[in-house]
Amino acid sequence: MKNIKFITAKEAVKVVKSNDRIHLHSVAVTPHPLIQALCERGRNKEFRNVRIQHIHTEGPAPYADIEFEGIFQLESFFVGHNVRKQTQLGYADYIPVFLHETQRLIREGVLKVNVAMIQVSVPDKFGYVSLGTSVDATLAAVEKADTVIAIVNPNVPRAFGDAIFHINDIDLFVEDDSPLIAKEMGEISDIDRKIGRFVAELVDDGATLQMGIGAIPNAVLSMLGNHKDLGVHSEMFADGILPLVDKGVVNGKNKAIDKGKMVATFLMGSKKLYDFIDNNPGVAMLDVAYTNRVAIIAQNPKVTAINSALQIDITGQVCADSIGTTHYSGVGGQIDFLRGASLSEGGKPIIAIPSVTNKGISKIAPILTPGAGVVSTRANIHWLVTEFGAVNLYGRSLQDRAKLIISISHPDHQENLDKAAFERFGPHFHFVWDAE
Ligand code: COA
Repeated sequence: MKNIKFITAKEAVKVVKSNDRIHLHSVAVTPHPLIQALCERGRNKEFRNVRIQHIHTEGPAPYADIEFEGIFQLESFFVGHNVRKQTQLGYADYIPVFLHETQRLIREGVLKVNVAMIQVSVPDKFGYVSLGTSVDATLAAVEKADTVIAIVNPNVPRAFGDAIFHINDIDLFVEDDSPLIAKEMGEISDIDRKIGRFVAELVDDGATLQMGIGAIPNAVLSMLGNHKDLGVHSEMFADGILPLVDKGVVNGKNKAIDKGKMVATFLMGSKKLYDFIDNNPGVAMLDVAYTNRVAIIAQNPKVTAINSALQIDITGQVCADSIGTTHYSGVGGQIDFLRGASLSEGGKPIIAIPSVTNKGISKIAPILTPGAGVVSTRANIHWLVTEFGAVNLYGRSLQDRAKLIISISHPDHQENLDKAAFERFGPHFHFVWDAE
């Protein structure tokens, strides 16, 4: 690493001044040494009114804490677990935005980024580094920020695609060799397995998959071992995909664009996953402007988009970002992919949920809890899957939908839901011929 002058994180963050906006690299490559140094300066009250934005960071997020009131203001594009409490209390805030437009806010100057704090791989002999496991909106921040501070970390995988850029675009360099934050796959519960089975039945050979993180996607993937020629074009993928790549089930042969390549914009998983994308020409880590653009997603055949929800009403309105008025998550890429799947030839937009929460509350409700944010409208919803089955709401009337949705709700809640539908639609509801 000749010609690069490294400085300490403490020196690097001196560039931050009052009223700046900082963009933080996300998920597994969250730049913690810079965050720590920044918070140290914040504690010393060396600046005020500094806005911080990011999609979702992993690990501690001290900048969102009340101790920094007036010093930092978090405006995240997604409410992750590490900033959830602070957002719910109002100290931290959230910008609702489609994931594919997070980069646009930066590129079009709606959000002017002063400092981008990122983590990159070791430069190659030509001076190119990789953003590794997260390209998302961070490439846009690298392009637009007045100052780019990069931690050069040998643990950041050299992922290809839009992740690669030249060190000339970096202003300040810091060294660190901490391991990336990793997440092992959790256990798959019986309920998730049942949901996974119903979803897997909807996946055709030759499908292009999009799925999020968590138990349901892993349960689905664990049941696709006998499928053929699957492809991946997703905002993210995790470890569950790896056995299917090993078996040759995921080979991208049937994709119309990026044939043979797995496409994502960020990853979260174990070290094994991060090693898998290191120097792997079969994986393209691309700008979120591309991965999540509806018109791009729709070009692949049989796009099968599997997403989840916090609550859904009996007409099919999906809430995925708040529980009532309590913010829990974000819009993310749900609409990007539901819409893209809907427009793809043979595509299937799917919402997969357990019928009840871990506290026994029905996730299917007569009406959304007041304050709940509709992430996907009734018109966006096609397939809905619970552990009790799969129904297709596309082209169905309100009353048909109510019948279909209630048919896969938890038996303990069906009577209430049925009563609510009767009150909503009147006695005719019970005369409607059985929806198939
Ligand atoms: N009423 C009350 N509480 C509810 C609830 C409801 N209808 N639904 C869920 N909860 C509670 C659960 O009890 C749980 O509480 P806990 O944290 O105290 O255990 C919590 O909310 C999370 O619920 P869960 O069903 O486990 O959520 P999840 O981890 O499966 O995530 C989403 C679901 C909707 C938040 C997630 O899929 C998401 O963020 N989606 C939006 C973005 C998106 O779709 N992106 C594309 C794919 S990455």
